[in-house]
Amino acid sequence: MLNTKIKGTTFNTPFINASGCWCYSHNELEELNDKRYCNDALISKSSTFQIRDGNPEPRYKEFDNLSINSMGLPNYGIKYYLNSLSNLNEKRKFISLSGLSLNENLNMINAIYEDLLINETQISGIEINLSCPNVIGKPQIGYDFLEMEMYLDKIFDNINTFENRIKDNTKFNNNNELLIGVKLPPYFDMSHFESAAAVLRKFERLNFITSINSVGNGLVIDTNSESVVIKPKNGFGGLGGSIIKPTALANVHKFYQLLGDKIDIIGCGGVTNGEDVFQHILAGASMVSIGTELMKKGPQIFNNLQSELIEIMNHKGYKYIKDFRGKLKHL
Ligand code: DHB
Repeated sequence: MLNTKIKGTTFNTPFINASGCWCYSHNELEELNDKRYCNDALISKSSTFQIRDGNPEPRYKEFDNLSINSMGLPNYGIKYYLNSLSNLNEKRKFISLSGLSLNENLNMINAIYEDLLINETQISGIEINLSCPNVIGKPQIGYDFLEMEMYLDKIFDNINTFENRIKDNTKFNNNNELLIGVKLPPYFDMSHFESAAAVLRKFERLNFITSINSVGNGLVIDTNSESVVIKPKNGFGGLGGSIIKPTALANVHKFYQLLGDKIDIIGCGGVTNGEDVFQHILAGASMVSIGTELMKKGPQIFNNLQSELIEIMNHKGYKYIKDFRGKLKHL
């Protein structure tokens, strides 16, 4: 009933964690892989080539309707996540990359394809993060359209080279082509949606976008202490939680209109209940990722979302996700 597709790949449910949430350690990834929870996919913490400690603490805080973070890319490095994911086989697995330079991203892509060739690791896809707001001195690439196009040019060249090598290898065929996606920052101006979509459309091999990353550089102030609530960057950080849902829905829907069915959308932002999932899908999302609410409630959240979504679908007489995906009405 809840099956959905990204390109040709079918998922039994539309649920996945947002990268960065519940996916830093192997233990957490193992929990996301547990059949008790109905997410049919998981994604690892955005990785760099080497291990990183990230920014000083406190660096994540949550409130009733929002979260703020400036983690600074703490992660165990690409090899750790490749190894971790190779041991998890219940669900589809994505790896998130957030190199601090183009070269670092290319090196990680090389590591993934070499792993695929040597160990035949079966991951489903790669999400290239173009929107980390928390590394000091590194602007979000998704906000610089020329830079984004140059990045993607080089990345897809690299992927193409490896895939040509794989095609000559009889163990592989088109069925294990990786899904390739990018994680985008939120856009706010109509001209920016169009500029971003114009870049994305140039890349035939791009299968999905994940929209949106946290809303960059918000500031939460505690009146009592007259202070910011996180330490890095004088308190500035990426916002998540239900306050960002209208921005997330706008991004999902606008990209759905601009990209059509060529590039699928993983909707991300402000999902706390089944109705939010329904709205993301109505706006055009094929899958929905959960960030702040997963941090608050743990992986049980997926099961709650599933039963609430099914209740809404039953009430409205929808049997499948495809019956309402992208069918948002305009007045
Ligand atoms: C971090 C935050 C992000 O929003 C992201 O996309 C990647 C990394 C972080 O601070 O670790």
